[in-house]
Amino acid sequence: MNQSVVLLGAQWGDEGKAKIIDHLAESASFVVRFQGGNNAGHTIVVQNQKTVLHLIPSGILHKNTINLIGNGVVFDMEVFLKEKNSLEEKGIDVSPARLMISEIVHVITPYHRLLDLARERVKTKIGTTGRGIGPTYGDKAMRLGIRIGEFRDRKKVFERYRACYEDKIRQLNELGEDKIPGLEESFENSLQQFSKLKAHLVDSSRILNYALREKKKVLFEGAQGTLLDIDYGTYPYVTSSNTLAAFAACGTGVGPRHLEYILGLTKAYTTRVGAGPFPTECLPGASDETAGKWMAEKGNEFGSTTGRARRCGWLDLVALKRAVELNSVTGLALSKMDVLSGLETIKLATAYEIGSKKTQDFPNFNLEEAKPVYEDLSGWGDLRGAKKESELSKEAKNFIHRIEEFTDVKVAMISTGPERDEMIIRDTIF
Ligand code: IMP
Repeated sequence: MNQSVVLLGAQWGDEGKAKIIDHLAESASFVVRFQGGNNAGHTIVVQNQKTVLHLIPSGILHKNTINLIGNGVVFDMEVFLKEKNSLEEKGIDVSPARLMISEIVHVITPYHRLLDLARERVKTKIGTTGRGIGPTYGDKAMRLGIRIGEFRDRKKVFERYRACYEDKIRQLNELGEDKIPGLEESFENSLQQFSKLKAHLVDSSRILNYALREKKKVLFEGAQGTLLDIDYGTYPYVTSSNTLAAFAACGTGVGPRHLEYILGLTKAYTTRVGAGPFPTECLPGASDETAGKWMAEKGNEFGSTTGRARRCGWLDLVALKRAVELNSVTGLALSKMDVLSGLETIKLATAYEIGSKKTQDFPNFNLEEAKPVYEDLSGWGDLRGAKKESELSKEAKNFIHRIEEFTDVKVAMISTGPERDEMIIRDTIF
């Protein structure tokens, strides 16, 4: 049994992390976000009731957990307050005793949001979520960012806010953006928001280190996915944070020795939102176009943050193996196997052809030139809601076995439907 688990997306995000977090949270004392911001959209379904969380950790629905937003997150105060209110309306306890924010998270201001959108319109075309994530991490690295605890000192923070604002204004003007809220108005608004949430601020590092010494169980909740990591993802089509397991330490203020079980989550197929290379994508006009549409429709593949249609394709074992290495994955969780039920043939990419070379190594450059080499497996029948391995057909088991064989990692959990209890547990993790 482990004291800490890091759950992370092993693909391009949207692997269904919230459901796994929700399951593991039952045994956890702490659930902690460590990177990203409200670009994430974590959907939990309990008795047909859907809750979508963008910023607040997905453990909040379990009353015995403390939920912590770690220092590696970029934080939108407005979004937090809205999300907190909507949970409160559902009768969920969101008091400071169980919902905490690191006092050194960097704040997303309206100017960061505007700049994200303006850049996308004019320059970058990454297909960002438009939530201000990139500009806020940019300012953090440029030492222009504002850490939330700074708002405790109105006078001092105003000067820092102004410096950040003036820098953004220059860039926004250059991009032709003229609908920019005034400095005073925006600052006062931020101060008001701060006063409503300041009771939630803590030193996340101190709290977590204390909890770990007390042998409390901690669950680190990753957002986005490995292939969106700013270093090892498909740069520049990535998010602006490190999404890899190791960052769970930096993004919360504990040492890496405390990251015990690394659970990598993958769908039984692949999806991607936004631009960038995707070797196994089922493209319109190609022979597997129908399979792609099947995944999109049956898997309801629309972004929970932006509502955008997700691009769909086959499971890519070359990429998955890379994710296993980059995160030192201990065990895999497999989601959405039920979505593929009924397809006659299931494809798995086991190599790439790049030019005249065949390789099983995921490249750092020119992924758009990689043509997948597929293995064809027989499809399986309905497995929706299966709770035991014995309920799976030989074909479904074979699919799982092939993933394990290729990646050399055990599949520890299999999700067989969106509901909380639609799950096969092969390894007790927590
Ligand atoms: P940003 O994180 O908003 O800057 O967007 C950068 C890229 O990451 C875009 O391709 C987004 O679609 C993608 N992205 C960001 N957050 C998520 C997520 O939670 N799931 C899937 N893709 C995401």
